Amino acid sequence: PQRGEMRYEGKAKRVYATPEPGEYIVEYKDEATAFNAQKRGGWQGKGATNNAITAHLYPVLEAAGVPTHFVRKLSDTEQLVKAVTIVPVEVIVRNVAAGSFSKRLGIEEGTPLDHPIVEYCYKSDALGDPLINTDTALSLGWATEPQLLRIRELALKIRGVLVPYFLARGVKLIDFKLEFGTLPDGTVVLADEISPDTCRFWDAETNEKMDKDRFRRDLGGIEDAYAEMLRRVTAPAAEG
Ligand code: C5P
Repeated sequence: PQRGEMRYEGKAKRVYATPEPGEYIVEYKDEATAFNAQKRGGWQGKGATNNAITAHLYPVLEAAGVPTHFVRKLSDTEQLVKAVTIVPVEVIVRNVAAGSFSKRLGIEEGTPLDHPIVEYCYKSDALGDPLINTDTALSLGWATEPQLLRIRELALKIRGVLVPYFLARGVKLIDFKLEFGTLPDGTVVLADEISPDTCRFWDAETNEKMDKDRFRRDLGGIEDAYAEMLRRVTAPAAEG
């Protein structure tokens, strides 16, 4: 399909209309940003890597019964998706303490969590994605109660698919961020990317970080880490 008018530009992606009103093209950019775009970077091939990782994982989730916006990969940096209305709530699922959770609660990074934690943030660059709860989203009309219940259910189902998927490829899924959208009939579907930009991945043997924390924390080796994550995501599951 031909790219039409640009509908949205984010820090790492652009969304274009297509001749078909129910479909959009998502283009992955090479830019990396952190701390609400106060820190900027990127490299050639980043967009292609994140597009490839996302385009590999979405069919895995679909096969497990998670409805998503994904239609198909179009090119190195583009994918075709169903047009959805994005719910302005970022959903974070945590398996192991890290990042803002560790900071906020004074819990050492790497501490396993006895129960998965689902957190919600308001998707607002101007406000720096503040933490909210589902009452906030309901009260401000961002989603209905059944949609919020469905979002939590899907977030935990996605965790149930991705944790063993990554572990079978030598990667611990520490935490990850999801976004959901609604179709014209109100159905909730998974949207946005699942990549080293939006997940914390630690090597299962060494605990080496293989995600955007290498950029956020100036650890170096980010291009290699993303390339290695693409290799592992697309590798068959290890035996045993
Ligand atoms: O920074 P924090 O610990 O809250 O991040 C939790 C997870 O959500 C991390 O995997 C991070 O990459 C992701 N995240 C994101 N976009 C944001 C905030 C967090 O993808 N705006």
